Amino acid sequence: MAVEPKIAPSMLSSDFANLASEAERMIQLGADWLHMDIMDGHFVPNLTIGTPVIESLRKHTKAYLDCHLMVTNPLDYVEPLAKAGASGFTFHVEVTKEYWQQLVNQIKTKGMRPGVALKPGTPIEEVYPLVEGENPVEMVLVMTVEPGFGGQKFMPETMDKVRTLRKKYPTLDIEVDGGLGPSTIDLAASAGANCIVAGSSVFGAKEPGEVISILRKSVADAQLNS
Ligand code: DX5
Ligand code: ZN
Repeated sequence: MAVEPKIAPSMLSSDFANLASEAERMIQLGADWLHMDIMDGHFVPNLTIGTPVIESLRKHTKAYLDCHLMVTNPLDYVEPLAKAGASGFTFHVEVTKEYWQQLVNQIKTKGMRPGVALKPGTPIEEVYPLVEGENPVEMVLVMTVEPGFGGQKFMPETMDKVRTLRKKYPTLDIEVDGGLGPSTIDLAASAGANCIVAGSSVFGAKEPGEVISILRKSVADAQLNS
């Protein structure tokens, strides 16, 4: 069975002053998930949203909030984010090597879906134990730019990692994040990605709904041809 396409606009590119209506607009236009970039100014040189914003947004939407934690201490965020109404909790492998098992356990106990992310320079082998363990993560996020900012250029060399993962794990949710849009989606989709994060290409478009459809169609077509 093929994994489902999930299109997740990155709210980092939305108008933060109108977050609730931006979220609603994306869902109306066909988005499956809302990607929420949580940064701490340490793991990445940028500071974005935190738990209070997730809590506020949750009051306005039932949508799946796909939280991507670019923070050095994700364990500290499990309880508050669960309370705030996060759906997915994706942490970075680079900072959790010593305690990912405990982290995954807590994420699941709190009713969220665990995912692991890796930066472009991190070898793919580092996530294998997290996918194959007794208590595995349910998604791998392959960063296709250096984490920290929206609007960067897609790095095609990261596609080797996606291909390797898809070959090894046919039913795993594989997410790509950074520089995805109509001109790069085919590369990611044919490599085997099924969860697509897109910020500037969606929010910067005249017709964001069309971009969402293009992304979805590319994933569906690639699955038919694989
Ligand atoms: C970057 C974030 C991304 C970002 C993607 O660190 O993880 O989610 O918002 O933005 P675009 O699609 O503009 O590259
Ligand atoms: Zn992200």
